[in-house]
Amino acid sequence: MNDLLEAAREARARAYAPYSGFRVGCALRLHSSAVVVGANVENAAYPIGQCAERGAIAAMIAAGERGIAEALVIGSGPEPCTPCGGCRQALREFASPALLVHCLDREGNGFAATLGDLLPHAFGPKDLGADGPAPASAAEIVRARAPGFAPFLGLLLGSGLGEVADLVEGVAAIPYADLPGLPRPGVAGHGGRLVLGTIAGLPVACFEGRAHLYEGDDKAPLRLVRLARSLGCTAFLVTSAVGGIRGDLGTGDIVRLTDHLNLMGTNPLIGPNDDRYGPRFPDMSAAYDTGLAALLDAAAAEGIELKQGVYAGWRGPAFETPAEIRMLRTLGGDVVGMSVVPEALAAAHCGLRFAAVSIVVNRAAGLEKAVLSHEETLKQAGAAAPGLARLIQGFAGRLAREENDGAA
Ligand code: HPA
Repeated sequence: MNDLLEAAREARARAYAPYSGFRVGCALRLHSSAVVVGANVENAAYPIGQCAERGAIAAMIAAGERGIAEALVIGSGPEPCTPCGGCRQALREFASPALLVHCLDREGNGFAATLGDLLPHAFGPKDLGADGPAPASAAEIVRARAPGFAPFLGLLLGSGLGEVADLVEGVAAIPYADLPGLPRPGVAGHGGRLVLGTIAGLPVACFEGRAHLYEGDDKAPLRLVRLARSLGCTAFLVTSAVGGIRGDLGTGDIVRLTDHLNLMGTNPLIGPNDDRYGPRFPDMSAAYDTGLAALLDAAAAEGIELKQGVYAGWRGPAFETPAEIRMLRTLGGDVVGMSVVPEALAAAHCGLRFAAVSIVVNRAAGLEKAVLSHEETLKQAGAAAPGLARLIQGFAGRLAREENDGAA
C-alpha cells in the first residue's frame, strides 16, 4: 500500500481547497496495476465541489479502464478521511463490496475497511457507530489486493528460511500487519509478509513466518491455516527448524515429517468447534498426506538427501533439558521443535492436505556439547535454505503438473 500512500500524498499536495482548507488526495490501484490519483477541487459555491475520489475515478475512465483493485484516501485533518456517501456509490460502480479502502488522517494513520462496510453508511467514521466500521477480514483484504488470484498451495516458512520466498514470482506481498488475525512476528528470522504468486507455475500463498504457541496466542496458528483455506488452498506445506534427536540426524539435514507427537500440552482446536471449517473430532490417522509426501520424495530424488522422521512438538520457549530429550527419544520422537503440531491439527481439521519439512539446525540438548541458541538456529537454517528451496521448487512443479493433469 506504500505506493498508493505516496501517490495520494502527492495528489493531496496539489488539491485546490481554498475555501475549506481541507485537502484530500485519493489513489486507486486499477485491475491493470496502474495507479491513478485525484485531488479535491472546490469553487466559490463551496461546499459544492469535486471530491478527490471522483477525480481519480475520472482519471481511470480517461485512461480507458473500468476496474478498481484497491483505494486509498488521505485527508488533511486529525481524523481518518472516509469517502463521502456519493463517492462510495461511485466506487461501487467499478469495484465489488470487497474493495479495500484505506481511510487515513493527515499523518497517514487510520483504518482499512471494505467498500461493503462503508456503503450503507454516509460520511465519516463517527456516523458508522461507536466502534467505526467492522474491520475487513484477512481473506477479504487479500482478495482485494490480488483480485482473481487463486492460490493452490499454502506455504509456511519457518525461522531463518525466509529466503525460500525468493522462489515466488510475486503477484502481491501483504505485510501481516495489514491482515487482521495474523501474527506480528515477535521472533527474529520471521519475515511477517504474505507473498502471493507462483512457484514453478503453481499458485501459492507463501506465509513468511508464524506465531508460536510460546508467544501466548494459542489460536494464531489456527487463523493462519484457515486463511489459506479461505483463500482456496487445498494443500499446505510447512517448513521449520528442529533439533535432531535420532542418531543419524545432524545439523543441515533435511527431514520430511511422517507424523508427530503432541507434547505441547494444548491443541488450537480446544473451545467451541467452528463447524464451517471442520468436525468436532478430526481424524489424525492420515494427517501427513502420503500423496504430498510422495511428491516431496520424487523432488528429492533429483539429488537432494531427504530423511524422514517423527516430530516431537515442544511448547517452549525454553529448549529441552537433556532428560527431556531422552524422554522424547523413548516416546518415538526423531526431531524436536516448537511449531508444526498446531498447524497440522488446524490443517487436518479444515481438510487441507498437509506436509512438513524440517531443517536440523542443532543436535538436541545433551547430545552434543554446544549451547543451544536462536542465533545458531537462524545461521544453520540460512545455510540449509538453498537446498530446501530446490526441494520446494521441485515439489511445486510436480504438484502443478498433478493438478493440471487432474483438471485436464
Ligand atoms: N529444540 C526445540 N526447538 C528447536 C530446536 C531444539 O533443539 N532447534 C530448533 N528448534
